[in-house]
Amino acid sequence: MSDSENRTSGRASDRRSLADRRTTQRRQGSDTRAKKAPAANSDRRAGTDRREGQRRTGRDPRSEAEWRTLSIDSTSAADVVRETVLLAAAVEARTRAHARYSHFMVGAALETADGQIVGGCNIENATYGLTLCAERVALVKALSDGRSVFTRIAIVADTEAPTPPCGPCRQLLWEYCGDIDIILGNLHGQTGRFRLSALLPLPFDSHLLG
Ligand code: THU
Repeated sequence: MSDSENRTSGRASDRRSLADRRTTQRRQGSDTRAKKAPAANSDRRAGTDRREGQRRTGRDPRSEAEWRTLSIDSTSAADVVRETVLLAAAVEARTRAHARYSHFMVGAALETADGQIVGGCNIENATYGLTLCAERVALVKALSDGRSVFTRIAIVADTEAPTPPCGPCRQLLWEYCGDIDIILGNLHGQTGRFRLSALLPLPFDSHLLG
């Protein structure tokens, strides 16, 4: 784990209030969870995941005990390099797409907190409805290999405009990756970058299940 990551703890009630606040704060692209003022009896959180400029990533356990914080400074030279490498991995993964029905080939590359990259491509089939998106393929590959903390994902398609993840992929990325950066690109380079919370402003997630 890097220096910028810390184990943290939290309560389900924090996430409930998040949903409320998001009804008015959505589409701002910031992690409103990270800006919540520390509640009483939460000194540990106040020193970790509630700091400005940090976001959480990792699993989505109901207790949040395994969420971690990561820096959101994505403009550092190191981050620019990582994003470029991740986009290249997504371009490469895309070449293995099975898209014989739509002919819309997509590649994804998911970065783990320890810097590994897991690629995925879309896989279609004759029923159409069982199609697997590139993002989900990358995610399930990573999870089934025992990787569970992620920092960003790159998604590439051969389009001028950015190709963002579909709704179901946003849901799964939120649950298993947290508020990661979504790097969008085409065959020529980056076309956009979003925080997942900006793309999924009022998520359904496990805290609602009690
Ligand atoms: N697709 C992805 O793989 N990811 C996305 O974010 C959007 C759509 C795939 C699914 C299908 O194989 C093809 O693109 C057309 O929808």
